[in-house]
Amino acid sequence: MDNGDDEPAGSLYEAVGGASWFVELIDRFYDRVMADPILAPMFPADLTESKRNAAHFLIQYWGGPTTYSDERGHPRLRMRHAPFAIGRSERDAWVGHMRASVEDMDPAPEVQTALLEYFEMAATAMINRSETPASARGSVIVISDGSDDGEPPAR
Ligand code: HEM
Repeated sequence: MDNGDDEPAGSLYEAVGGASWFVELIDRFYDRVMADPILAPMFPADLTESKRNAAHFLIQYWGGPTTYSDERGHPRLRMRHAPFAIGRSERDAWVGHMRASVEDMDPAPEVQTALLEYFEMAATAMINRSETPASARGSVIVISDGSDDGEPPAR
């Protein structure tokens, strides 16, 4: 997949060395997520499928095999996240864990920049609740019904 004029020839998937890089990134990310009191309760106890879907999604997005869509169809990430209350705090926690996990993996600087810019943008697009003070949790205001696609632009 061509990731644009500002990147050298070849996909980011190839630049990091293929699928195993994303599998390790996702392993590290979920370790952090499950230690996070805000995010952990949203996820199932058995993370096997979650990790598999997340890794396959990133592999596909960054130019590797299309196993994600072969198995799951169109990503429709905003729709798939609609059941979960994602406000600014959840988004910031998610991005923080992903940033730390990318930094752990120590990729080339241009790879790190591309990944982090993408995660910041995509995670902002996943917000589906207005910010609610902790005291008001449970009385959230829905600001989107999640019916729009909300996919990050194809690369
Ligand atoms: C903004 C904060 C976010 C929160 C709180 C969040 C939370 C969740 C939860 C609870 C699930 C369902 C459980 C699971 O299957 O693992 C999920 C699934 C998923 N998330 Fe997120 N997510 C966020 C952002 C993102 C972003 C930015 C991406 C991609 C860049 C992403 C990619 C995915 C994928 C690929 C799945 C699996 C979808 C499927 O095929 O079923 N998420 N997320």
